[in-house]
Amino acid sequence: MQDNIITKNAKPVISTRGLVKKFNGKTVLRGIDADIYEGEKVAVIGPSGSGKSTFLRCLNLLEIPFSGTILFGDEIIFGSDYYAQKDKLKELKAARRLYKKGYDDETVKSIRQEINDLKTLEKSLKKELKEHKAHAKMLKATSSREGALEDAEQTAKLITTVSEKIAQTKSLIKAEKAKEKARRKQVREQLDENLLSKMSEDISAQLCVTLKSKSRHKKFVSEMEKTIDAHRRMTGMVFQHFNLFGNLSVIDNITLAPIKTGLQEVKAKKRALRAAARKGDENAKSELAKLPHKLEIIENARKQAYELLGKVGLQDKADVYPATLSGGQKQRIAIVRALAMNPSIMLFDEPTSALDPEMVGEVLQVIKKLADDGMTMVIVTHEMGFAREVATRVLFIDEGVIKEDAPPAQLFGNPQNERLKEFLSKVL
Ligand SMILES: Nc1ncnc2c1ncn2[C@@H]1O[C@H](COP(=O)(O)OP(=O)(O)OP(=O)(O)O)[C@@H](O)[C@H]1O
Ligand SMILES: [Mg+2]
Repeated sequence: MQDNIITKNAKPVISTRGLVKKFNGKTVLRGIDADIYEGEKVAVIGPSGSGKSTFLRCLNLLEIPFSGTILFGDEIIFGSDYYAQKDKLKELKAARRLYKKGYDDETVKSIRQEINDLKTLEKSLKKELKEHKAHAKMLKATSSREGALEDAEQTAKLITTVSEKIAQTKSLIKAEKAKEKARRKQVREQLDENLLSKMSEDISAQLCVTLKSKSRHKKFVSEMEKTIDAHRRMTGMVFQHFNLFGNLSVIDNITLAPIKTGLQEVKAKKRALRAAARKGDENAKSELAKLPHKLEIIENARKQAYELLGKVGLQDKADVYPATLSGGQKQRIAIVRALAMNPSIMLFDEPTSALDPEMVGEVLQVIKKLADDGMTMVIVTHEMGFAREVATRVLFIDEGVIKEDAPPAQLFGNPQNERLKEFLSKVL
């Protein structure tokens, strides 16, 4: 295990506060507070479906969170409580609606419970009846069998009894429904006007809060569209399935983004300098002349790509297409591609779990080397041995919550959380 290298001076590269993510109303992250400090190697472990990938994808803004805050350095790259406020408004409105219709009365609630129980009973009786009828049908087909007649009589009796029970249950349900209707009418006639107006006031106040939050959110999202690419460039992401472009050679895969952003940057600088030069800024003119040419940008990107390829031992693969590479080689290229953007942090989502066992080592070695060189990284992994050896800190995520956060020796050696103990007993 490495020493915990976090010093007092280290700053978080990325922080999250109260990070919530929902998919179609289902909450997947339930308020994650995390700080990833400069130089840290954070392993994220946890059961399947617990939200590990979603957490990573939110850090990279590949997923837009539902609510909460994400800070990248000192900059808030996401911060909104709009959806949470909207949910609160919805709840308040629903409560008033239920009250007005008489559904939140205790007597009504207990009658409705009774109706539900009766319906469950009716359902099981119907199922029983179906089975008896099927049995009767079967008996008809085999009527010559000894004892068949007796059995048929018995079954016919059962069918009658169960049918009667169903009829009884139906009329009970009907009676309960009438009771509910009467009670709700009574409740509606006696609604507390004070309470109703208090509920309406709360709704108006919440509506105000929600609308303000909505306008902040909209502004934020439109701002974010401008900065999202820049943010993603700063957070290199490596996926389980490499996601290389099959129609591009290795070198083109690696240089595509650096060249594109390099050209964009020069274009923007050029525009600004030209505007300044038109206003007579002499300095701008000389700066303009110093801007790199397109070919120079391409050449630099290729040079850097070759250097990085050398570091992962794949310089000879520069001109081949991804289809000709092994899984381990593809993943090493994917890592190089992320590194080519000079990210401040690398995010790995199970980088070795799609690989044949004999290729896991070569990829882990590359990641370990990066870690040793001081790269800040978050790595979702099922490789507990690797997490133990390389990570400076391990987060255990379960049901969308960080349930334990500790250095590996402590987390693996002396787990506190019950769910973590159970998880480790299965994977270690
Ligand atoms: N785009 C999506 N749309 C709908 N539901 C999603 C989406 N992405 C993830 N989910 C759901 O969110 C939950 C968390 O998924 P996530 O991929 O973050 O889990 P995980 O911890 O990475 O699991 P695994 O170890 O299997 O990779 C799962 O129930 C998943 O089905
Ligand atoms: Mg995952």
